[in-house]
Amino acid sequence: MNPLIPPQANMIVQIALLVLLLVSLGLKRRHKYLLHGATMLIAVLLSVFSLLLIMLPSLFSLEIIKTQPLHILSVITLTHVAVGVLADLLALLLVASWVLQPSVQKCARRKRLMRITLWLWLTALFVGVLFYAYAYTNLIP
Ligand code: HEM
Repeated sequence: MNPLIPPQANMIVQIALLVLLLVSLGLKRRHKYLLHGATMLIAVLLSVFSLLLIMLPSLFSLEIIKTQPLHILSVITLTHVAVGVLADLLALLLVASWVLQPSVQKCARRKRLMRITLWLWLTALFVGVLFYAYAYTNLIP
């Protein structure tokens, strides 16, 4: 694990991210698309920072992945990282194309990609919670 940042702190960041995603979707439902885009931009930055500063360093220090790659904890971790990286890349693509071409109409054309990105993001968050429950609590025996 990353010795500087305790796993509880990462968990709080991930919960904040989930709240931000839900708020952003609420704004979209109320047709506040600019605010939807802006909150997604903040969520992407938060997610990329947590990936680079917390999760990737933590991944490289997890010995079990090298010694037992088929262990349930290794499988959960690698799934979490793979889906999370893919979701972050797609989310970066969505917000970067908006920043480069700030048009809500053009954004709206990418709603299929937004839906896919959202599901990948939620899956990565869910698997992350599973990892936390397995590694740091007694909830999963
Ligand atoms: C990571 C980034 C983003 C995610 C995960 C996301 C997610 C979503 C989702 C799930 C929908 C509903 C799609 C549907 O109704 O089928 C949506 C709709 C929409 N989003 Fe995003 N979004 C993101 C970024 C943005 C950005 C940067 C903008 C630019 C302003 C934007 C503008 C819109 C608009 C205009 C709609 C409504 C489309 C329509 O109903 O025609 N989104 N978004």
